[in-house]
Amino acid sequence: MKVQILENYKEMSRAAADIFADVINSKKDCVLGLATGDTPIGMYECLVEDYKAGKVDFASVKSVNLDEYYPITPDNDQSYRYFMNYHLFDKVNINKANTYVPDGQASDPVSSCEAYEKNIDALGGIDIQVLGIGRNGHIGFNEPDGELIFYTHVTDLTADTIEANSRFFESESDVPKQAVTMGIESIFKARKIVVLASGEGKAEAVKRMLCGKLTTNCPASLLRLHPDVTLICDKDAAILL
Ligand code: F6R
Repeated sequence: MKVQILENYKEMSRAAADIFADVINSKKDCVLGLATGDTPIGMYECLVEDYKAGKVDFASVKSVNLDEYYPITPDNDQSYRYFMNYHLFDKVNINKANTYVPDGQASDPVSSCEAYEKNIDALGGIDIQVLGIGRNGHIGFNEPDGELIFYTHVTDLTADTIEANSRFFESESDVPKQAVTMGIESIFKARKIVVLASGEGKAEAVKRMLCGKLTTNCPASLLRLHPDVTLICDKDAAILL
């Protein structure tokens, strides 16, 4: 894994956006793998700036998102579909019909997960995937466990993740208890992966990802097996390295 330690969140976000812009500029109909959460917001802001400055064109770009709460409706302002529209899709010239987020209200979530996975393959796979990292080492909503699931699936959120994400909801009890997430192999199929981490709260997870045991109890540690992963983090997230 390549590691870039930058001064602060702003520099991290700009560096990540530059990598994404390069991919888009070298392949106009590329497939972006996108994430939600606080960490990539700055990167999306930089990409919106680049779009407005005429430096990047999303007209033929397609995207797939890592995960979505379950159950949740797309118009709920805590849904990941809402997040993506708000932070990126509504601000650039991407065709929303080409943006895919797991269905948070599927009546048959198992079939919906299978269809999601097939769609990733039908799109030709993900050219570049951005990931945040959970304090507990999760990627997407692949939570630490004795075993992990390969492909897109429904999963129970851990108490730690529910507590971490409760900051976005009125109360902890409002946080959905499940999510649909791409699996480890869905993520690994991406040709290039950029992991972002910012702030001291992520320092322990970053240390475990880079220097700890390779274990499903820290799903991010498995990224060391992928041939093209770059961690871009700020000084605070790197404080324990
Ligand atoms: C979001 C996702 C999660 C987050 C992680 C970090 O789509 O898949 O794995 O990347 O929980 O979240 P933040 O960035 O809010 O610290």
